[in-house]
Amino acid sequence: MRVVELFAGAGGMSLGLKRAGYEIVQAYDSWDKAVAVYRNNVGPHAWQADLKEIFRIGPAVASLAPDVIVGGPPCQDFSTAGDRVEGERAEMTKVFAMIVCIARPPWIVMENVPRASNSKSWAEARAMLMRAGYGLTECKLNASYYGVPQARKRLFVVGRLGEQDGFLESALVAARSAQPMHVRGMLRATDPDDANILASGAFYTRPYYTGRGVRLLDEPAPSVIRTTREAPRPHYLTSPHPDDPVPASNAGLLTQGQVARIQGFPADWDWSSVGSRDIDQMIANAVPAPMAEAVGRAILERECGRTIPALQGRFGSWLAGSCDFSKAAVRNAKSRVNRARRLLGGRTFANGAVELATLEGIEEFARLPTATRSDLRKSLRLYREWQSQAPKARQNNRQKVGLIKAMAA
Ligand SMILES: C[S@@+](CC[C@H](N)C(=O)[O-])C[C@H]1O[C@@H](n2cnc3c(N)ncnc32)[C@H](O)[C@@H]1O
Repeated sequence: MRVVELFAGAGGMSLGLKRAGYEIVQAYDSWDKAVAVYRNNVGPHAWQADLKEIFRIGPAVASLAPDVIVGGPPCQDFSTAGDRVEGERAEMTKVFAMIVCIARPPWIVMENVPRASNSKSWAEARAMLMRAGYGLTECKLNASYYGVPQARKRLFVVGRLGEQDGFLESALVAARSAQPMHVRGMLRATDPDDANILASGAFYTRPYYTGRGVRLLDEPAPSVIRTTREAPRPHYLTSPHPDDPVPASNAGLLTQGQVARIQGFPADWDWSSVGSRDIDQMIANAVPAPMAEAVGRAILERECGRTIPALQGRFGSWLAGSCDFSKAAVRNAKSRVNRARRLLGGRTFANGAVELATLEGIEEFARLPTATRSDLRKSLRLYREWQSQAPKARQNNRQKVGLIKAMAA
């Protein structure tokens, strides 16, 4: 699949998607130094551009007809590490949505800090994307479960034209590892800097404001920020965090190369064109490549029809309660929805009529016995009916809980 990346930074997201098998055809960022690092490592398709110039960039992106537009718009206006006033940087989330609406690729991926999900800018961007026909999966993922030794939590929004919301959620959850990755798993005894950290048994990372500075090697690192590798201030040494497992003065200090690796950059990433402070900033900005790779793979698998979404919620209980289905009938109905979904290549379809019409057009479906076809259609219709009632049931439940709380008060 062909990708255009907006707000590409030093190339963390592009690296992960390339590893997953995508072709990155164009990348944009306004920071000349980030573009230089990107070009040195990912390829010459990166351009310095201010993406606010929507009427110039939008048509240029559309003319490339990408299969996917990806981007991590600036997060400082939303993040805990920023002052959280929604200013021009938050507006970039809407710029991302506007360029998507001009180019209308089949797929989109947006990454940001979890707080972005409650922002006014994302609410407006989401409304634009939904009006343009995208079904959206909005998931908060923890990088340490996606091959990165860092407890970095990030909002990933994956959109696909014509889908139901939440269509990829179960696939992203299934891509998680059983255990989080720890810093020890990244360290190599043969590397002298790594050997130092291994010998200390613990490492220090500068907290942004408050928070724990010292961690054991069998923990993931906290979310990387620009100052992560800085030494503890005198104030921290005299008033350490109460949960520090060892004194900060006994913990190893991470090198810039180690922090880059914690953010998923390979050890041989060429940063030579920029100064040290800019490198720290680009590292902190990045989407860890293994995380982007995992999300990219989940999309490719769905695009190829190799996965189907898990059935949501309490469909079975609804069939048993509202439709008087026996246990066996519930099992059959569920497996028929899944079978229909497999025939549909994992698609969920925002529109039920389009879903059924698409099913009718599939050769394999047409070859099935009449009774089987009728069972599959019926099960899909039942699932739709349940989906249309489920929000009402949840609403009724919330009202009930509200009433009980009000009575208790
Ligand atoms: C969170 S970083 C993206 C990091 C990138 N996804 C990665 O994996 O390395 C946001 C990027 O947006 C860029 N940016 C900010 N405002 C911009 C604008 N108006 N036009 C283009 N890029 C902009 C910044 O220079 C920064 O590199």
